[in-house]
Amino acid sequence: MTPKKLSQPRKWWDRLFAPSSCFAVITTVDVDGHTNAASYGTCTRVKHEPVYIAFTANVGSDTARNVTDTAEFVVNLPRFERVSLEAARVVGLPFAPGVNELEKAGLTALPSTVVKPPRILEFPRHFECRVEWTKAWAERLMVVGKVVAASVDADCVDAQGRVVWERVRPAHYCGAPYGGMFVAAYDTMAVGLPYQGPEVAEFFAREQAMFKDG
Ligand SMILES: Cc1cc2nc3c(=O)[nH]c(=O)nc-3n(C[C@H](O)[C@H](O)[C@H](O)COP(=O)(O)O)c2cc1C
Repeated sequence: MTPKKLSQPRKWWDRLFAPSSCFAVITTVDVDGHTNAASYGTCTRVKHEPVYIAFTANVGSDTARNVTDTAEFVVNLPRFERVSLEAARVVGLPFAPGVNELEKAGLTALPSTVVKPPRILEFPRHFECRVEWTKAWAERLMVVGKVVAASVDADCVDAQGRVVWERVRPAHYCGAPYGGMFVAAYDTMAVGLPYQGPEVAEFFAREQAMFKDG
């Protein structure tokens, strides 16, 4: 069954990318519009509001070149499930420039809502990004992108835009080298704050200002 994608309002983009770091497949297009996809264990949400996402790519990779040339990318978060993660491993192979890794991996390109690179239909969460800045460093290109749209499978969030953990099942990279091992952790626990000093009120005032919509 084809999942129904729900575009999320901006106020919920931050809670959609939870936890802060997830294993991701990043899609880009080259200057001629050819789709590229690659796997990333270094993908992290680095700012809450507005939401920014960062990752590092090898200098010389198709992703690094496309991001530099077109200034757009889409972060697609797969589920912790065998078929998706095996496809993500295929996508991470060193295909020649211009090869569409989504086709090689049997994944489906779904047009994005704002940017040119496509979303990946089979993965439940998508963050459409425009490049804010890049920095070449230690043979890597550090990329920071501003999220300009986010969408999710309709059955993967509740009415407040919070992810349903059992459905999104975020996956995490499990340690070098890049291989066939992933880890998932999605137990949730509400915890108290065993401290009563003045910093507590200051903290909540700041949080409230940042997350105006709760
Ligand atoms: C699980 C996994 C995680 C990966 N994480 C990264 C990463 O964070 N940064 C990176 O540069 N390459 C990473 N790779 C390798 C790239 O996906 C791989 O080099 C890919 O061929 C780059 O494709 P491209 O040339 O189309 O951009 C990872 C691969 C796998 C399988």
